[in-house]
Amino acid sequence: MGKKVLVIGSGPSGIFTCGALSSDKSIDVKVYERASQIGGQWAGLRTDLVEDYGHRHSSLYRGLWINGPKEAGIELPNYQFEKDIPSYFKQPQMVKYLEGYVDHMNIRQKFHVSMNVIKTEFNDTTNQFHVKTENTATKEIHDEIFDYVAVATGHFSMAHDPHFKGEESFKGKYIHAHDFIDGKLYKGQRVLCIGGSYSAEDIALQCWKFGAEYAHITHRSQKQLAYPDWPKEVLERPILTNIEGNTVTFKDGTTGEYDVIIKCTGYLHSFPFLPKELNLKCRNVMVPSGLYNQCVSLQNSQLFFIGMQDQYYTFTMFQLQGFYMREVVLNKIQVPDFSGRLAEYEADRAEGAALKDCYDDIHFQTRYVNKLAKLTGEQNVDASEVFVRWENQKHKSICGFRNEQFRSIYTGHLAPPVPTKWTEDMS
Ligand SMILES: Cc1cc2nc3c(=O)[nH]c(=O)nc-3n(C[C@H](O)[C@H](O)[C@H](O)COP(=O)(O)OP(=O)(O)OC[C@H]3O[C@@H](n4cnc5c(N)ncnc54)[C@H](O)[C@@H]3O)c2cc1C
Ligand SMILES: NC(=O)c1ccc[n+]([C@@H]2O[C@H](COP(=O)([O-])OP(=O)(O)OC[C@H]3O[C@@H](n4cnc5c(N)ncnc54)[C@H](OP(=O)(O)O)[C@@H]3O)[C@@H](O)[C@H]2O)c1
Repeated sequence: MGKKVLVIGSGPSGIFTCGALSSDKSIDVKVYERASQIGGQWAGLRTDLVEDYGHRHSSLYRGLWINGPKEAGIELPNYQFEKDIPSYFKQPQMVKYLEGYVDHMNIRQKFHVSMNVIKTEFNDTTNQFHVKTENTATKEIHDEIFDYVAVATGHFSMAHDPHFKGEESFKGKYIHAHDFIDGKLYKGQRVLCIGGSYSAEDIALQCWKFGAEYAHITHRSQKQLAYPDWPKEVLERPILTNIEGNTVTFKDGTTGEYDVIIKCTGYLHSFPFLPKELNLKCRNVMVPSGLYNQCVSLQNSQLFFIGMQDQYYTFTMFQLQGFYMREVVLNKIQVPDFSGRLAEYEADRAEGAALKDCYDDIHFQTRYVNKLAKLTGEQNVDASEVFVRWENQKHKSICGFRNEQFRSIYTGHLAPPVPTKWTEDMS
């Protein structure tokens, strides 16, 4: 009898882990997804939808384009985009790619939607997981046993919502990026985004593009955003120190007036279905805490976590982690005991702590995916040159980088230009 493996979540990491595991027919794979459709963040904008399990999973918003080219860590060696797809595109194209992969790999029957995993426990005597799942449509509870579990539930859904001094007195609209659904809603408004990363820069620009009076970004980031072509209505400000009514004071003593504040302060990893001893406490960093080889639980070598790191590589890394899991399940790769896992994790963590900038991050994650490819005998997905070009282009033009074209790292095919420039796309 083959090993029974449960994948929790059917976003990209669940889909590609399922594809990778299913490449060996002896592995019995099942994917449980609590939403009513597969695709995770990309499944639909679902902006006004509260799913059966009580809240909206996706943090995507209308108008969102991908923020790195498909040639950098998205396109897979074993399933490529159609030749007429530009390097940058919007959410429907991503859904088409995910759905296309599921059909191409012939794995659709392995996905079970409306199945919310509510409890996962490990039995030390049988060395198996006991999993409790609720069917969100019928409310029936199911109990099952698996040999391995892959947690693929993402980590960009549960808002990290820090308190800022005086925020109770703010008179305008005060939301987290998770609840930002459309830049068009902020036409004529004075917007402040808090945060120094992707959400802050993109949401400020979305507000600007759709007619905000101005959209400022307040951050404490070491890596200054400092793009040379911010529109004049988008201004970087030092971190805020106080909010009083509509007035925000910044660290340098200057102030600003705002109608809307959007906390672009990131997300929390959250695994309510795992017991304390197996839970993972980590942040959105290059080396996630508590994992051997960035994907195996330090506490239990039959428990995998897919895509828990800060991501440059996305789909290609998820699939390689799935291939790595396949090799472990098949006993072709032996995971070391706890002390061996811990020692390697500590070494990874030290390497992660020494990374100074985005270029270091890119090369670090490239070394990781190269290692996974070598260990598993799967095709190399090294896109470091594409990533470096992308970073350089972005640092030259935050408004223009999405108009660039890249070549496939597998075939050399040059993607066509985008049909509409990002700044002109008002849909
Ligand atoms: C605003 C935003 C923009 C982004 N833009 C890009 C981009 O341009 N390019 C890029 O490559 N990446 C981007 N990302 C990153 C994106 O998260 C990844 O591309 C990808 O969606 C991660 O896949 P995932 O499967 O790990 O997580 P998700 O896509 O979050 O999928 C997790 C799935 O697990 C399910 N689930 C959760 N808990 C349970 C449970 N208890 N039981 C059963 N199912 C469960 C959820 O319903 C969901 O379907 C963006 C993320 C955000 C938030
Ligand atoms: N396709 C797109 O255009 C697009 C758009 C948005 C997001 N995304 C994706 O979504 C994911 C999440 O991005 P994200 O920007 O939401 O999260 P993130 O990259 O984790 O960044 C969170 C930001 O919040 C800041 N922050 C956290 N707590 C703070 C506090 N108390 N005070 C001030 N600042 C604080 C952090 O600053 P420190 O670093 O100082 O902690 C960091 O700058 C990424 O994978 C990204 O690629 C993509």
